[in-house]
Amino acid sequence: VLLVYIISIKSKIDQMYFEYKNNILNWYGVNLKNITRKVDELLLKEYNYEGPYYLYSESLLNDRLSRFKNIFRKSKFYYSVKSLSNIYILKRVKKFENFGLDVVSGAEILRGLSAGFSGEEMVYAGVGKTSHEIELGLEHKLKSFHVESISEVRQIERISRKNGVVARITARLNPDIGVNTHHYIKTGIEESKFGILPEEMKQLYDIVTHSPYIELSGLQVHLGSQIMSSAPFFKALKFLQKNASIAEKELKKEIEYLSLGGGFGINYKQYMKGKPLKEFPLEEFAQKLNEINNSPWRIDFEPGRFISAPSGVLVSNVLYIKQRQKTGIVICNAGMSDLIRPALYSAFHPILSMEIRSNKKRKYDIVGPICESGDFFAKGIDLPVIDEGDKLIVGFAGAYGSVMGSNYNSRPFIPEILVSDNEIEVIRRPQSGTDIFQYELNI
Ligand SMILES: Cc1ncc(COP(=O)(O)O)c(C=O)c1O
Repeated sequence: VLLVYIISIKSKIDQMYFEYKNNILNWYGVNLKNITRKVDELLLKEYNYEGPYYLYSESLLNDRLSRFKNIFRKSKFYYSVKSLSNIYILKRVKKFENFGLDVVSGAEILRGLSAGFSGEEMVYAGVGKTSHEIELGLEHKLKSFHVESISEVRQIERISRKNGVVARITARLNPDIGVNTHHYIKTGIEESKFGILPEEMKQLYDIVTHSPYIELSGLQVHLGSQIMSSAPFFKALKFLQKNASIAEKELKKEIEYLSLGGGFGINYKQYMKGKPLKEFPLEEFAQKLNEINNSPWRIDFEPGRFISAPSGVLVSNVLYIKQRQKTGIVICNAGMSDLIRPALYSAFHPILSMEIRSNKKRKYDIVGPICESGDFFAKGIDLPVIDEGDKLIVGFAGAYGSVMGSNYNSRPFIPEILVSDNEIEVIRRPQSGTDIFQYELNI
């Protein structure tokens, strides 16, 4: 059964994310010219809006979530809300029974509740939880606080004791395991701000042993993002198992689960060379994990990008083109306030013309309208000749895209649209110019 399942998943993996049919870009079966025309009309009619927007595909989102179904025996999954947090996206995640939420702030708890999740279905990570956020988490009986320092454990214990409730915690350990990824997204190395070092755990055991208001449910690590191979996860699993044995001995109590965090990667660049999408070998990893894991602890995960990145694109219009000696400078109506990843991490995103109208190619810099020279999506890329007024699609923009948007240059947050079976739904309306400064008035 597992083999049949893996084969059926494999055929889905090979499905093209982007392909041109009659020179029109199709995205996972959706004709982007037809859809964007409808979306443009709707946004103009309803909101008098003509700017860029994020477009999400429900079938892609469902297919990515389905990949986690059945293949990991007994695991639970907590979708990383921060990667793409729109409530309507979370409502879609809710349809998958094996999924809860991994939240990182009080407001993300509120988002989860609004989407229909209970506190029991949420784990709460983050190095700087405030007492207000801890109160909120306790009030909603969160599945677990993923604690990141001894001081935080003390603070949670103080608050749960004051409220006469029991807080469940999971220690996020810093395993000092390096992974081959961008330095900003390596989170499991000793020098990073995340996690508790194993040698500090004695203090945590002391607090838990001496208080009836706090209990340890699990141990967790998160190594980083964009991890492309299984090896670091197996290394981390060994590390967790060793520490779980120690914890059970120290506390004379069983631990419920070990969590390997998120970080399953996708290589957006490889895909543009006409090769199939290269991504973390999820099914192979699951199979191996099922074979080797005979330890008593359930193994949970917190995937984000693997689900959300392919599920969204950024749609923008070309405003102006300037010709320079070597390249054409294409100025779009979307910029780093809408998608900051290229400026922040030098992240690569595929840029595709929505419609190819020429066999000729030119070299282009694709830039935004913001007053910053770092405001670009790509430099020196070859694209079929572009005209002013054309649409450009920024691919794999679902994860850490809209959620990292800002109002820099007093640019409003752009709308988010969900496409399901060729129906379109505005799941975030465009912010207006006056929305931006409303908090600065009548204080
Ligand atoms: C604790 C934790 N879990 C899960 C994730 C999700 O990571 P990704 O989107 O790479 O899967 C993150 C992201 O930084 C994280 O910090």
